[in-house]
Amino acid sequence: MTNNITIRLELPSDFRAVEELTREAFWPHSEHSCNEHLLVHKLRSLPAFIPELDYVAEINGKLAGNIVYSKAKIVTPDAREVEVIAFGPLSVAPEFQNQGVGKALLAHTIAEAKSLGYRGILLFGHPDYYPRAGFRRGWEFGILTADDRDKFDPLMAMPLFDGAFDGLSGGRFVEDSVFETLTDEELAEFEKSLAYKTPVEPVSVDVLLARLLPSAITALEPFKLKTLNDVRRISERALSQLPGVDRGAVETVRSVMREHGRLWGAA
Ligand SMILES: CC(C)(COP(=O)(O)OP(=O)(O)OC[C@H]1O[C@@H](n2cnc3c(N)ncnc32)[C@H](O)[C@@H]1OP(=O)(O)O)[C@@H](O)C(=O)NCCC(=O)NCCS
Repeated sequence: MTNNITIRLELPSDFRAVEELTREAFWPHSEHSCNEHLLVHKLRSLPAFIPELDYVAEINGKLAGNIVYSKAKIVTPDAREVEVIAFGPLSVAPEFQNQGVGKALLAHTIAEAKSLGYRGILLFGHPDYYPRAGFRRGWEFGILTADDRDKFDPLMAMPLFDGAFDGLSGGRFVEDSVFETLTDEELAEFEKSLAYKTPVEPVSVDVLLARLLPSAITALEPFKLKTLNDVRRISERALSQLPGVDRGAVETVRSVMREHGRLWGAA
């Protein structure tokens, strides 16, 4: 169902509602607490923030989702700094998820970013969701994480014009420092301004391991998984390439994640 989705720029009068929506969207996926709503709150006042790409989606006049972008850079091995943009958080209110809102926000803002002349978009996100919007793995362009990780599936990239990422191989993707510097204290302070929400209890990875064959359990050992949320760090592609993991094991992971309300894997 993709009807009745309206995409428009965020207005100051949306700020609070967007922060609440962001918390609702991320809460079930973040054991203990999530900080994405604080991130949105802080980002808006930072120089890296891009107001021209701060969009909300509405369904029948009700706020359904939001996407925010900020300036980031690729630092090349010869120390050049090349501007790119990053998005996140991307949030869809739980009652409006899986109705095309995320897809619509992405399509609209990617086109807008292109027409504004930006070079490319990078992000850390679900490796099985963003390829649907045209993203590829950062490593396909030779781009590494800020801490030099190669072949890191959640790092995704989209050049916005031909050859936009040429010459960036070996470069590191560096986001605004706000993404790394939010503290628990700030979050606790910010939470006080919002209605109390009961933290989500972590679900032990044992519920998954109990349903896998020994070969798949062995394959997962190096990831040191403790809870089901840890599983979300592994993409479906990466999992299916592990020795000892067959199609059945991938299906089992997907089922267990769904049963516990954690989205994982290509649908
Ligand atoms: C992830 C999110 C932005 C997707 O937006 P959405 O409007 O719900 O999704 P869309 O309707 O555009 O796309 C739905 C499709 O994507 C799939 N999908 C949704 N989230 C997914 C995920 N995390 N991993 C893999 N596939 C996913 C759905 O199964 C569905 O598949 P189908 O079209 O084959 O039925 C939204 O669900 C959300 O806000 N989630 C919580 C917060 C979050 O995780 N944000 C993203 C941070 S990287």
